[in-house]
Amino acid sequence: MPIPHSFIEDLLARIDMSELVSSYVKLTKRVGSNEYGLCPFHSEKTPSFSINREKQIYYCFGCGRGGGAVNFVMEMENLTFPEAIEVLARRAGMTMPDAVGVEDAEKRRRMLALNRDAARFYHEKLTDAPDGAAAKYMRARGITPKMARVFGLGSAPDVWDALTAAMRARGYLDEELIAAGLAKRGKGGGAYDYFHDRLIFPVIDVRGNVIGFSGRILSSAEPKYLNSPDTIAFSKSRNLFALNLAKKSKAGMLILTEGNIDVVSLHGAGIDCAVASLGTSLTGEQARLMTRYTDKAVICYDNDAAGEKATERAIGILERTGINVRVLRLPGAKDPDEYIQKHGADSFRNLLDQSENHVEYRLRVILTEESLETDEGRIGYLTRATQALAEVPSAPEREVFGRTVAKNAGVSYEAIETEVRKIRRSLAKKEKAQLRREEERPKAAMQPADKALRYSNEYSAVAEEGVIRCLFADPETFDAAREAGLRQEEFTSPFLGKIYGRLMERDAEGERAPPPIVLAELETGEAAHLTKLLRQPSSKQEGVRALRDYIERIREEKLKSGSDITQALLAVQKIKQRKVMG
Ligand code: UTP
Ligand code: MN
Repeated sequence: MPIPHSFIEDLLARIDMSELVSSYVKLTKRVGSNEYGLCPFHSEKTPSFSINREKQIYYCFGCGRGGGAVNFVMEMENLTFPEAIEVLARRAGMTMPDAVGVEDAEKRRRMLALNRDAARFYHEKLTDAPDGAAAKYMRARGITPKMARVFGLGSAPDVWDALTAAMRARGYLDEELIAAGLAKRGKGGGAYDYFHDRLIFPVIDVRGNVIGFSGRILSSAEPKYLNSPDTIAFSKSRNLFALNLAKKSKAGMLILTEGNIDVVSLHGAGIDCAVASLGTSLTGEQARLMTRYTDKAVICYDNDAAGEKATERAIGILERTGINVRVLRLPGAKDPDEYIQKHGADSFRNLLDQSENHVEYRLRVILTEESLETDEGRIGYLTRATQALAEVPSAPEREVFGRTVAKNAGVSYEAIETEVRKIRRSLAKKEKAQLRREEERPKAAMQPADKALRYSNEYSAVAEEGVIRCLFADPETFDAAREAGLRQEEFTSPFLGKIYGRLMERDAEGERAPPPIVLAELETGEAAHLTKLLRQPSSKQEGVRALRDYIERIREEKLKSGSDITQALLAVQKIKQRKVMG
């Protein structure tokens, strides 16, 4: 059942764009009714992401994404339209109007119950067989029975349908097991277990629900880890392993590791604030989730090239949420688990105390990558290091690190300072230019980013965009457009024509559709482009007079391009006459 327009309208009226976006993005700058921050959709250093409080829209000058509240939630949380509406409804304290939502909630409740029963089954299999393969493996990895209890670890036996049979006996249907990702459909039509011969790590959300599982193979078979697929109860990109435990930690920070075993090992050593992303690289959603519990994160990834790359990525993602980021590197061990096994918890804590803030980390990575033995290497080092320094917002920090860089490269601190100041000035200039570009939009920039929407006639498109802006700006223009007899087919841009048609239709039905509602119903690229054109500051009052000018220009353009000549000619004359009269 589609969600009624009236509900979406009520809902959007209660959502404040600034507040909504602020829970994902730190909005740092304010100019008039616009607020700016670092774009959550692409990586950047200077803010090109903006929201407009008046129009309740967002737009990024960097990556061209834009839309209203619904589009934002859809993109941010990777949700479908109805899912995004649900999220917003929850936010606004509104109950979804349809029965579909209720049915889904019931399905989800059943799935969570099944997951809980499955977790219990796996855990019993582990504790009931202290000499079984899983228990032996656990011991070999130094996981104590206490930790197995805390994490609810389990054992998936090497049997076709151990779990499936047990869950059937408890009244669950094969379909439910399959939907939960606990079983797979067999060739003969039956179902068999998804996890075999694995140590099972239940994934538990912050509310205590068992939402999914991760299983480490006990043998040397592949893949090493198998994770539950995403289901209506489980989204890997939106949860963190062990956050249910770490959220209770008194450490005042979260330690982010790569592996489940790392997390268990750290908790076992009394470091109870460790979490891990679930077999994926860190997502913005996960970072945002972390901000609910802490403002300090320590990245402690594997000590290899992949870990280093992932660290760089994670720094950016975490920084964008405003979290204070530090990096912990473990000398002489491939990952936190190995470090703890080799050197113990105290040694790990010592390292943790000394963990670098990310500027230090970046500078050190640059240092290892450039050779200071040659002039060429030294120049490479200085170029990259001063660039990194220039991005540090705090002046005292810039000086401290700047002095180290100077010493490393064997140059004076003054030389570094001058260079950093130069780079900062040019960064500031670039930033300003970007803001200015938003005000004056050159022709080439008017083309939609989405290739499918490209304008075939830019001159006509300018006027067509104008018509759309008028309709949004002034309700009286609807009648004027009707009087002028402007038809959807006259638009050279099918996209703009479609918007025009929709707005007119709704107006005829007595419905006013503000931008967020129209945007909510568009594809990503379409929403982005409509936002962009709505955001454009208009040089003149967008009223009836402007609308008539635009229509006239559309028809003149049509005339020039030679199609539909007589009709357009007549139309132009008609409008001119009306202008003379009114
Ligand atoms: P690692 O390979 O570092 O595993 O992958 P680990 O946790 O340190 O395990 P051990 O010490 O080798 O036994 C890190 C994480 O990446 C995901 C898992 O979440 C794992 O914990 N992963 C890894 C997968 O999802 N699938 C794989 O095949 C491998
Ligand atoms: Mn590892």
